[in-house]
Amino acid sequence: MAVWSAPGKVFLFGEHAVVYGKPGIAMAIKPRVYVTVRKTRHPPRVKSPYLEKCFELMGVNGSVYIHSQLPSSSGLGSSAAVTVATLSAINDEYGLGHTKSDIASMAHSVEKSVQKGRASATDTYVSTFGGVLLIQGDIKRRLPPEDFHLVIGNTMVSHSTARMVEQVSKFRATDPDIVNPILDAIEAVTMRSLHVFQDQRALGRYMDINHELLEALGVGHPALTRLVTAARAAGAYGAKITGAGGGGSMVALCPKRSKSKIAGAIEGCDGRAIITTIDNEGARKEKEDERNRTDKTGR
Ligand code: PMV
Repeated sequence: MAVWSAPGKVFLFGEHAVVYGKPGIAMAIKPRVYVTVRKTRHPPRVKSPYLEKCFELMGVNGSVYIHSQLPSSSGLGSSAAVTVATLSAINDEYGLGHTKSDIASMAHSVEKSVQKGRASATDTYVSTFGGVLLIQGDIKRRLPPEDFHLVIGNTMVSHSTARMVEQVSKFRATDPDIVNPILDAIEAVTMRSLHVFQDQRALGRYMDINHELLEALGVGHPALTRLVTAARAAGAYGAKITGAGGGGSMVALCPKRSKSKIAGAIEGCDGRAIITTIDNEGARKEKEDERNRTDKTGR
């Protein structure tokens, strides 16, 4: 039996713009998905297409148990974390000898095939390696880890990443003279943020600007606006949509002393708050007694 876990992620800057080759900054966050894989002679049928693809790609069969601290479909990379942890556990249980880089690229191909081609490598890469990453096309650069205090607000409004990406693409096709400058401005904000990474007050201002630019792209939602406004009013350095928008989650960069107050403000506006920080490990092997914490799903 092998037990592996992998973290979720937030976009600090650049979502949607990354689809057009612009840079983005994503960070692995503490909540994790735990996966137990066991060799069995007669494994039950897999119910999740992600798990099914993982076993198919690795060319083996087994049973799988999942326990997730990440809400699904909330823009926090839960499907990527499930995929990365499952592939890592299969690799370990069957002694297949794949490297972390192999796992990251296999996880990306699993997501691409389940999501019909629409999946950037960001989620799977960040979940595999952890830390903060600057992403531009195929280039991924690890940034020095920062001790950020984040509060995530899940609107509980379900959204579809594919639909939001398509909506922006249609807007760009009909109004390139409006959309291209917005994407350029997001790029400028992302690049500027790199110069102020140690100055959280300045970084927060850039997150606010990035949020307004995402609203201008049309991926806002009244529930996101409420949570972003509440977090700012409760003392966040900055707050923005994270991920595809149209529902899903927002993220606030917070002074350490204010994170509980900010989480309370988010909950007061019907959001689910998660207080978190950076995860620097990425996918990791867990002790076997982790099985006591796992719930049976999918098989
Ligand atoms: O909602 P998420 O976490 O899947 O983020 C989507 C981010 C986009 O830039 C909109 C799409 C992508 O594939 O990068």
